[in-house]
Amino acid sequence: MAERTGELPRVVRPDLGGPFPEHIAIIMDGNGRWAEERGLRRVFGHREGIDSVREVTTECARMGVKSLTLYAFSVENWKRPRAEVRYLMRLLRHFLVDERPTLMENAVTLRCIGRLDDLPEEVLRELRKSEALTSANRGMRLRLALSYGARSELADGLRALVLDVQRGALVAAEIDEETLRRYLYDPQTPDPDLLIRTAGELRLSNFLLWQASYSEIHVSEVCWPEFRKAALLAALRDYAGRVRKFGGLISDRATPVPPVRRAVT
Ligand code: IPE
Ligand code: IPE
Ligand code: MG
Repeated sequence: MAERTGELPRVVRPDLGGPFPEHIAIIMDGNGRWAEERGLRRVFGHREGIDSVREVTTECARMGVKSLTLYAFSVENWKRPRAEVRYLMRLLRHFLVDERPTLMENAVTLRCIGRLDDLPEEVLRELRKSEALTSANRGMRLRLALSYGARSELADGLRALVLDVQRGALVAAEIDEETLRRYLYDPQTPDPDLLIRTAGELRLSNFLLWQASYSEIHVSEVCWPEFRKAALLAALRDYAGRVRKFGGLISDRATPVPPVRRAVT
């Protein structure tokens, strides 16, 4: 039975005429607005957003994306009204249980990043179960950012790093960017190539500040509950047309170099 095997899905990558991202990270925003625009309470938007998570995850797995990071709940989101937080945690627990067959069917490995100890015990339990169940899958890595904040990630990493220096496991003078990376959450996953934010807001909201240094950013006007295959393809098409330079130049074509100093006339 496909649900039990976790066999790799047949990869069908659309030809969008350019590069394809290996790692996509998404700030799933606009659930509340989507609901309010329809005269519904905000939580209806969160519930509807689950269908987008399923569709985007499945599409990405089938297109051969290697990693997908979804910003589902930030450290700052604990400030929201208690009833909304409680609803989101219940939704998360149901998602973790209900989506296991879909994850297995698509050979997806689930990993979570963030201050997971902040989560209610029953959520953490289901999360660990899903991580264990999917750990041997060989397809896409789905990373849920939960109680995640990039500044907390840096603080948590630095605390661990300083302890290692104090006990002599690390030499301060030898710390470089790669050392620091090892202390971040899930450092094996390469940086996102494409960072998508839905619902039109032009900010990072404390998401992957270190890892997104050179990510290409695509902002979609579509609210998350409506972000489905068509919107994903639009983001991928946008990415396919980008030129990534990482501070260098596109090519080293030999062009005449002007003298450093202008001639004095
Ligand atoms: C994103 O949608 C979901 C979470 C942050 C948990 P919002 O709830 O932020 O929706 P808007 O931005 O208020 O519309
Ligand atoms: C960012 O959305 C967090 C998640 C999508 C989980 P927010 O709605 O919390 O961000 P702000 O408050 O608009 O910056
Ligand atoms: Mg929001």
